[in-house]
Amino acid sequence: MRRVVIATGNPGKLREMLAILGGHGLEPVAQSAFGIEPPVEDGDSFVANALIKARHAAARAGLPAIADDSGLEVDALDGRPGVYSARYAGPEADNESNNDKLLAELAGVPAARRGARYRCAMVFVQGAGDEAPIVAEAAWEGRIGFERRGAGGFGYDPLFVVAGGDITAGEMPEAEKNRVSHRGQALAELAEKMKAAGW
Ligand code: IMP
Repeated sequence: MRRVVIATGNPGKLREMLAILGGHGLEPVAQSAFGIEPPVEDGDSFVANALIKARHAAARAGLPAIADDSGLEVDALDGRPGVYSARYAGPEADNESNNDKLLAELAGVPAARRGARYRCAMVFVQGAGDEAPIVAEAAWEGRIGFERRGAGGFGYDPLFVVAGGDITAGEMPEAEKNRVSHRGQALAELAEKMKAAGW
């Protein structure tokens, strides 16, 4: 088993990533186990921010690292909140205030114009200076509902109605979300690419 540090401080994401990676013959260790604080994410894309997090964790832990960066793009908001999803409602934002702001910004927008998607970039670096990181990206289509439903997942999941049905990501069993979500798809692709590269 090869140890890989997981560069996230978000407990919801960490739970999902540990569940997915456990089946891939790697020993994932959360960056909190090394006392690593998250870096400032000032990249202008999901890939750029994921690389900032992975290099930061790899440098401090002295181990290879996997990091993701993800967010929600809402069509009626021209793709916002995008890379700013975590702090959409301001510097002190939490899941509740972010979801409140999203509902407020979409007040009066009909169902047909509430299209949205989660995006995820997942990266692997062998060390902080790795010049050929492995990168995988995925999207998960859906729309923004009119009220919160479901207690599962995290973030915008109670408002994210998954395409092709009427359940929110918050109503999905965790294993199902991990199989179909942006993060699940990106991580599965990353794991395949890592395997092909000898990991
Ligand atoms: P990051 O830590 O900069 O990648 O922040 C991503 C933010 O996007 C999270 O804090 C959530 O607000 C949102 N987000 C990303 N993925 C998900 C998901 O699977 N469910 C709900 N919200 C998500």
